[in-house]
Order: sequence, then structure tokens, then C-alpha cells
Amino acid sequence: MTETLEPGLLERLGGILEPDLRVPLVKLNMLKVVKSGWGKSQLKLVTLNPPPEYANELEAEVTEALASGPKAMRVVSEVASAEELEEIASSLVDVEGTAAAAARLERKPPVSAAGSKTRVIGISSGKGGVGKSSVCVNLAVALAGRGHEVGILDADVYGFSVPKMLGITRKPQLIGNLMIPPVGFGVRCMSMGFFVEDDTPVVWRGPMLHKALEQFLVDVFWGDLDYLIIDMPPGTGDVALSLGEYLPKSEILVVTTPQPAAERVAQRSALAARKLKLPVRGVIENMSHFVGDDGKIYEIFGSGGGAQLAEVLSVPLLARLPIDVKIRQGGDVGTPSAAAGEAGGFEDLAKAIEDMGPARRYRSELKIT
Ligand SMILES: Nc1ncnc2c1ncn2[C@@H]1O[C@H](COP(=O)(O)OP(=O)(O)OP(=O)(O)O)[C@@H](O)[C@H]1O
Ligand SMILES: [Mg+2]
Repeated sequence: MTETLEPGLLERLGGILEPDLRVPLVKLNMLKVVKSGWGKSQLKLVTLNPPPEYANELEAEVTEALASGPKAMRVVSEVASAEELEEIASSLVDVEGTAAAAARLERKPPVSAAGSKTRVIGISSGKGGVGKSSVCVNLAVALAGRGHEVGILDADVYGFSVPKMLGITRKPQLIGNLMIPPVGFGVRCMSMGFFVEDDTPVVWRGPMLHKALEQFLVDVFWGDLDYLIIDMPPGTGDVALSLGEYLPKSEILVVTTPQPAAERVAQRSALAARKLKLPVRGVIENMSHFVGDDGKIYEIFGSGGGAQLAEVLSVPLLARLPIDVKIRQGGDVGTPSAAAGEAGGFEDLAKAIEDMGPARRYRSELKIT
């Protein structure tokens, strides 16, 4: 027998989120008052099946919230039955709303459904190794720290690195037909890295890649995102093409280092984005300079590449991020520097992106002739 939660309990427990779903447990029917064998009321915490690695922590959080109130009640965790999983799945559909459900039926991404508030931002570069993934992760964490709902789609299928950089070790969970992206530092993350063994080279042909991206966009519960950041593979290949098709409202930011050679290659990727009618919104210069202990600025990779690229593309130079050991270390250990109170340039970059607002779409049907 299940009783409904009384208002006092709701108040105490209503703020606890399911960590990966980022939806209150009470909204998902994951907290229920049940009678024990002795007829005493107890609180049942329904856990996903199989129980995720955070199940114990979540139980502790619920127990603590309950202990703060007058009514003593035991908390028992129980793995969701098939019926309960169905209940959770249908609550997720409610959370997403009808436009998302309708988009999914047509195999279209809910993030680009009519009325979706999500800004999709593709981070692109010409060359590899310029810090694209580091920028994605730290920008996402900085945006999440500013109160936004953020997801990262690691579309760099050949060189996925985002889960590691976010310290995520668990795989996506499956509820009904939906994949649930694991969350690290408040950022939801989906990556090819979850589905292949480490060190296995991934060979993708265009159509397979297209299909994989479709699944990541359509069959994933992204929730009500403010920002979906996409870590694109270096260069101008199939992924950009697929994204242009699935997410026509994507905005592109181009990362470059200050060298002229890097800038020229970055320019090609920006022009390719424009060919796909994706608006390039700005340039991010990474590894701009190094500030020594003596306070002196060393321009290790030369200077001016970012500004020059911004000028050629007629877009703003949004950030000049320094070479900082903390950025490298943060990526290696899975604690992004932006999460460790070292948001620095990333905080400013996040603000600049907020201030810029979404791209205005040019719609030919609105043209006055
Ligand atoms: N501003 C920075 N300061 C110090 N180290 C950095 C900085 N940006 C990136 N790095 C380091 O440089 C290396 C490459 O960065 P990252 O993996 O983010 O680049 P990428 O463009 O995504 O590369 P790939 O093309 O391999 O995907 C990483 O070890 C990262 O920690
Ligand atoms: Mg990368």
C-alpha cells in the first residue's frame, strides 16, 4: 500500500534531485510512503535498475532530509520494479513536455523542437590539440555554475575525451527507450566513449556516424537544457554535416591558438560551418600566453591569431585563455579547473556567451520584397 506524501514531507524532500535525471525524486514517483510488515510507515526510495553508483549517497541525502523533521521514519531503498520504471519513464515524458515528445516521434531532436529554449553551441577548430575539449568542458561547468542547465555532446567520435575530463566513470542508464546521460559537475554528458572499449580505434563511415548522432540527439533525455555544448571533431567532416542537418539552429564558436598556421586552418572550419548555414558567433583564442611567476607575459605560441581570425570572420574575439597548468591538470584528473573555483577566463567567456544571446535566424519566408 502506498500513501501519498503529506505536505510536510513534500516540503522537506521536494528539493532532492535524482542526480543524473536532475529532476526532483518526488516528481518521478521515486519516494513513496509504504507500510512495513509491522504496519509502521516507512519511506521507500525507488532506485533505478541496476542501482547507480550514487545510490547510497542519495539514500543518505534522503535520510538526512527526513531526520530534520518531527516525524521519525525509516528509509528503505528498493530497486524499481518494471512497473515503477514505466512510471518513471512516463514522468520523464511529462517533464519534457508535448513538443519534445512530438519531435521524438518524427525522429527529430527535442532540443530543436518548436519552443525549445536550448541554445546549441558547437565548438569547432581546424587543428586538433588546440584545447577544444578543455574549452567545452570548462565553459559548460562555468555556465552550470551560473545556474544554467547544461549538457555536453561529445561528438568527437574519434577522439572522445569529455567523460574523463568531467570525472565521469559510469555509463548512461536506460529508462524505457531513453538513454540518461551521466552528470559530472552539474553537466550532463553523452559520448561515444561510453560505448566503446578504451583504446579501441573507432572506424566510422558517414552514415553510421549520422545514425549515432541521431541517437544521441533523439534518444537521450537531455531535460530542459539552456545550453547544449557540442565538442566537434577537428576539421570539416561528416559530423559538421550531420549537425547542420539535425540542429539547424546551432551556433558555432571556433577555437584557435595564436599561431598564424592554426588560425588559417581554423578559418577553413569556420567557412565550412558557414557553407552549412550555421552562424559562426565568435572566436576563442586558447593558449594565448603564459604568465610567469615574475608576472611577465610569455607569448609561447606567437600572438594575434585569434584577433586576426575574428577580423576575417567579422565576429567578436570572445576570450583569450592563458596557458595554465591548472587547466591541463584539471582535465587529466577529471576535476575541471572551472569547477575548482578557478573559472578565470571561462567565467568571462560564459558571461560573454550569455550576453550575446541566441543567434537571430534568417528566415527567407520573412523577407520583405
Ligand atoms: N589553456 C590551456 N592551458 C594549459 N593546458 C591546456 C590548455 N588548453 C588545453 N590544454 C591541454 O592541452 C591538451 C589538449 O587539449 P584538448 O584535449 O582540450 O584539445 P583538443 O583540441 O580537444 O584536442 P583533440 O584534437 O585531441 O580533441 C590537453 O592536455 C589539455 O589539458
Ligand atoms: Mg578533444
